[in-house]
Amino acid sequence: MAAGDGTRMKSGLPKVLHRAAGKPLVGHVVDAARGVGAAAIALVVPVEHTTLRETLGEDFVYAVQDPPRGTGDAAACGLRALGDKAGELVLVVNGDGPCIRASTLQNMLDARGEADAVFLTVNREDPTGYGRIVRGADGALQRIVEESDCSEEQRKISEVNAGVYLFEAGMMAKALDALTPDNAQGELYLTDALEVVNGLGGRVALYRHDDIEDVQGVNTRAELAAAETTLQRRKAEALMASGVTIRNPGTVLIDVDVEVGPDTILYPGVSLEAGTRIGSGCVVYPNVRIARSEIHDEVTILDGTVVEDALVESRASLGPYARLRPLAHVGEGAKVGNFVEMKKSHLGPGAKASHLTYLGDAEIGSGANIGAGTITCNYDGTNKHRTVIGEGAFIGSNTALVAPVRVGKGAYVGAGSTITKDVPDESLGVARGRQMVKEGWAARDKSGDE
Ligand code: UD1
Ligand code: CA
Repeated sequence: MAAGDGTRMKSGLPKVLHRAAGKPLVGHVVDAARGVGAAAIALVVPVEHTTLRETLGEDFVYAVQDPPRGTGDAAACGLRALGDKAGELVLVVNGDGPCIRASTLQNMLDARGEADAVFLTVNREDPTGYGRIVRGADGALQRIVEESDCSEEQRKISEVNAGVYLFEAGMMAKALDALTPDNAQGELYLTDALEVVNGLGGRVALYRHDDIEDVQGVNTRAELAAAETTLQRRKAEALMASGVTIRNPGTVLIDVDVEVGPDTILYPGVSLEAGTRIGSGCVVYPNVRIARSEIHDEVTILDGTVVEDALVESRASLGPYARLRPLAHVGEGAKVGNFVEMKKSHLGPGAKASHLTYLGDAEIGSGANIGAGTITCNYDGTNKHRTVIGEGAFIGSNTALVAPVRVGKGAYVGAGSTITKDVPDESLGVARGRQMVKEGWAARDKSGDE
């Protein structure tokens, strides 16, 4: 269910599209449903759901709830949209509980027995905001009362509804039909289905869960942060279990779909964003951010480096303070040193750009040495042009390569050159003002009259 307003987020973005650990909230919920083998998934969305659809893709039945009249109405809307695909058992999950795990849904399915409906509950020290589970004097289930409908006494109940439900499809349809909006919010509450199923002579079971993090709802930014902390902690734990060293797990941010190989070491403050794969035996030093990139084995990434949409092959070294922009490709054993920026460029195997350099739209052969302060002047104000540097070439420090231009294999460029013409293989190109020396000039007549 993802059609609510999410007003408490105070956001222009639909609540369920806010991201935690690199994925929209509802994306995590869908993953859990898939993980438990759901045959079909309906996503209940509001009329205005273009952004939702663009973000989440077409792998679902979109059930448009118009207008959103509460969670009971949302569940009915989803059930209608599924039609025959609904099957015998229907799981209903709040779209704003991103920490829910497939294993929890599976446990709930396993615990169903003969029940027509199963409600997941949890005991919370602070139950504020959640629907309370009200039991009779004999302990028997009576109903769920929402925060805004609670009496003083009910407010103190610590057992709450987690927003995860399992229904026998026929009973679900009947129960949802019978819901009425006589509550503080004037909505159709899915939670009222508990009482209704009971009234229809059906059997309701509670599945009491002991992991409150698993079912924390996100209604506010603070709750978003709490849910993300849980997801990040789980991710770090899973990586450590698979052989990754994380020196201070509380300080790293690793999105759920990131892969890291064994014996890689992550230092504090590292951010690994969605779409990133890191091999084994790498060392990633503090405050490095890597997004949508592939890093092979035994790569060293020194402090403060930023890598986006790039490919880095084995045993390469980056940083400190290097910046790899989209389509940067660093070959095996190559070095991108401090304050070096690369964009849409390939640095061949073993090539080095050790200091203070910009490489844009460049192809650099293996073993080439790019001196400190080299700049590829790739932009003429209108178009971008390529620079090609051959294998084993040596570019002296503080060289400007005005593209399009080519420096041949094994060629040399003298320091301080502004290269505007191709330099053939094995030759030397120098393009700078000649040095003049005036001997004894310091002792010249300084009176001013020449
Ligand atoms: C709901 C439960 C509450 C439970 C809590 C757990 C109800 C009435 N209350 O409260 O008992 O403790 O979740 O987190 O169900 N939605 C729709 N259409 C609507 C309304 C909501 O799709 O018309 C979706 C929302 O997008 C959200 C989910 O349903 O993903 C839950 O709605 P929300 O308003 O957040 O319910 P809570 O007040 O948190
Ligand atoms: Ca909620």
